[in-house]
Amino acid sequence: MMAGESRLHDLRIDVDRLLRRIDALGEIGRIDGPNGEWGNARLALTDTDRAGRDLVVTWMRDLGLDVAIDALGNVVGTREGADRTLAPVMVGSHIDTVGTGGRFDGNLGVLAGLEVIETLARHDVVTERGVQVAFFTDEEGARFAPDMLGSLVYVGGLALEEALDIVAADDGARLGDELERIGYAGPVPCPHPAAPHAYVELHIEQGPILEAEGVTIGVVEGVQGISWTEVVIVGQSAHAGTTPMRLRHDPVYCAGVIAAYVRDLTRTLGHDQVGTVGRVDVYPNLVNVVASRVVLTVDLRNTDESMLQEAERRLGTFLEELSLDEGVEISTRSLARFEPVAFDARMVDRVESTAQRLGHSTRRMPSGAGHDAQMLARICPTAMIFTPSVNGLSHNIAEFTEASDIAAGANVLLQVVVDLAQDAPTD
Ligand code: GLV
Ligand code: MN
Ligand code: MN
Repeated sequence: MMAGESRLHDLRIDVDRLLRRIDALGEIGRIDGPNGEWGNARLALTDTDRAGRDLVVTWMRDLGLDVAIDALGNVVGTREGADRTLAPVMVGSHIDTVGTGGRFDGNLGVLAGLEVIETLARHDVVTERGVQVAFFTDEEGARFAPDMLGSLVYVGGLALEEALDIVAADDGARLGDELERIGYAGPVPCPHPAAPHAYVELHIEQGPILEAEGVTIGVVEGVQGISWTEVVIVGQSAHAGTTPMRLRHDPVYCAGVIAAYVRDLTRTLGHDQVGTVGRVDVYPNLVNVVASRVVLTVDLRNTDESMLQEAERRLGTFLEELSLDEGVEISTRSLARFEPVAFDARMVDRVESTAQRLGHSTRRMPSGAGHDAQMLARICPTAMIFTPSVNGLSHNIAEFTEASDIAAGANVLLQVVVDLAQDAPTD
């Protein structure tokens, strides 16, 4: 065992080993772009997700972790500490991706966690508290809404049975059936009865701020509120050549108007309000047929809960008026609704001072993306570390983070974890 705080402070991760794991996981569901860029399609609970899970579980077992798979397919690998009565420190993220995702989003946090474990093991470090590496099911929510589903259920925010009954947006499959099919409906109860001592998640920023400001480490103070709404517009199918414009009840026209309204709404509200119409399904989707039905999604986010509520209220009023104007039926269903989350101030300070001790420039910032950390924050002190994203790109196969930034982020993670894992019981 290494003795002394200074020797622990000298520990560093091996970035080449970490990058090899990122690339190996990225080979599963790999998508190649025309200019050498490459990313991933591992939508939650698909065959590629299963293959990715199998690889990460193999790595966990090879590192000697005790692997627990719970009833929602969340996977937690534990390295015991010297005192097994103390709550462990958890790190983690997700390994599912959107359909055209990068190989860093989520994967970095999980594989950097394994790199922390391997670094501790190779230096024969036994921490006081155990260290856990988790990957949570369906963080993206792209296939099964809401996002952060696995961690939401893990912390008791949604009943397991309700989660198992969620139906996929793409093929209508039931989540519980898909979990069984890929062999990840595990025996461990979910929600988990005991909270970790603390949770720390390393993640790429997925936006342009760190790169633009030349800052290496984002110290994340919280996550903005998220509101996802599914909008169903039912009009009347008709002939594109013969139906006079004044007699149409056209859901595709409405979809276009809604997308434009969402963009205008963000301009009117300001305050960093963002809004996206990301999915539009048209029926029957034919060149010479006025459509009968459109299903679309609206994603609204704001760091300010009252502003987010105002955006939702204005969208609701707009949809009512549009329905009357065009003579279509418009119904809505909430797919996800999470209030903004502020991380524990002492944990945020710890990330910041650790990054500065390691010589990195830092910047405090909110997260624009949703993360499992916002769910874990409900049950234990939580923090996040961001690393820059080249060109601010994410949810894009061209997503990229420089090796030096990955090394910086993973070393901050290592040092924060080592410190937390030495916390006395009263801390
Ligand atoms: C999920 O990661 C999201 O922010 O959409
Ligand atoms: Mn992510
Ligand atoms: Mn993502």
